[in-house]
Amino acid sequence: MSPAPADNRAPKRVLVLGATGMVGRAWRGLLISHGIEHRALARPEFDLLNPETIEAIDFDGFDLVVNAAAWTDVDGAEADPEGASQANGASVRRIAERCDDAGATLVHYSTDYIFDGTHNGPIPVDLDPDPINAYGKSKLDGERAIAATGCDSIVIRTSWVYAPWGKNFVRTIAKLAGERETLRVVSDQTGRPTSAEHLARSSLALAMTGARGVWHATDSGACSWFEFAREIVSLVGSACAVEPCTSEEFPRPAKRPTNSVLDIAPTETLLGPLTPWQLALADVVRRMTID
Ligand SMILES: NC(=O)c1ccc[n+]([C@@H]2O[C@H](COP(=O)([O-])OP(=O)(O)OC[C@H]3O[C@@H](n4cnc5c(N)ncnc54)[C@H](OP(=O)(O)O)[C@@H]3O)[C@@H](O)[C@H]2O)c1
Repeated sequence: MSPAPADNRAPKRVLVLGATGMVGRAWRGLLISHGIEHRALARPEFDLLNPETIEAIDFDGFDLVVNAAAWTDVDGAEADPEGASQANGASVRRIAERCDDAGATLVHYSTDYIFDGTHNGPIPVDLDPDPINAYGKSKLDGERAIAATGCDSIVIRTSWVYAPWGKNFVRTIAKLAGERETLRVVSDQTGRPTSAEHLARSSLALAMTGARGVWHATDSGACSWFEFAREIVSLVGSACAVEPCTSEEFPRPAKRPTNSVLDIAPTETLLGPLTPWQLALADVVRRMTID
C-alpha cells in the first residue's frame, strides 16, 4: 500500500456511497492505494429508493462523502421517471443535507446528459442545462437539490465512463468484437470517453485543491461512439469490421444529445492536462477481462 498523499489537505476519513459501481470501485482502489481510511456502502444497506437506509447511515466522522451511486439506466428512466427522480434528485438532496449536518464535503457526479447536445464546441460549465431525457432531468434535479441545501460540495459532471470492471461500452464492444464479423455503431454523437479510475483521481485532486461548486472532468480529446468502438476493436486485436451508422437507425427509448463534449479547460488549468482518451483506453483494455 502506498502512503497517504503527502498533503494535509487529503481527506482523513471518506464515505463512499455506491461502492459497487464503476466509479465507486475506482474510488475504493484509489483510497486503498493512498492508505486513506474509508467506509464503502452499497445496496441493500444503502438504497437511493429506500429513504430509511439513508437515514440509518452515520455520516459523523467523515470529512469527505463521495456519492458514486445513481440511477444510471438511461433508457429505464424513460419508463420510470419518478423512480429516477427519487434516486437522482430527492435522495441526493437528503444526502446533501446529511453531509451539511455532519460538516462533510460532498463529492457528487452529474452528467453531460443535463445538456440538450446542440451547443457548438465544448460545453462550458455555466451553459444553461436543458435535458432531453428523463435521466438527464433526474440528474439535473440532483444538481439543483445540492445547490439548494448550500452544503459544502463539488459536483463533477462527466461523460462516457468505462472501467476494467462493470457494465460499460468498452467491455461490451470488446466482447462483441470476438463474436461478430461486423459491428455498426452510431457516428453522429460526439463526446469524451472517461476512465473511471482517472475520474476518481481527478475528483480527489479537485477536492484537495479546495475546489467547490460545479466542475467538468473527463479524459481529454473527443470522438464519436463509432470512433471509440473502432479504437477498442483495434486494441483487442479483432478483425471485426466497425461501420458507422446514424442514431435514427438505432432508435432507443431515451434520446441522446448530439454533442456531449464537456469543456474541461477550467479543470485542466487547475489540475494540469487530463489524459488523452486513447491512452486511458489502451491501459484499461490491457487490464480488463471480458466475460
Ligand atoms: N456511466 C457513465 O457513462 C456516466 C456518464 C456521466 C455521468 N455518470 C455518473 O457517474 C456516477 C457514477 O456512475 P457509474 O458510471 O459508476 O455507473 P454504474 O457503474 O452504473 O454504477 C452505479 C452505482 O449506483 C448504484 N445504484 C443504482 N441504483 C441504486 C439505488 N437505488 N440505491 C443505491 N445504489 C444504487 C449501483 O449499485 P448496484 O451495483 O447495486 O447496481 C452502482 O453502485 C453516477 O452519478 C452517474 O450518473 C456516469
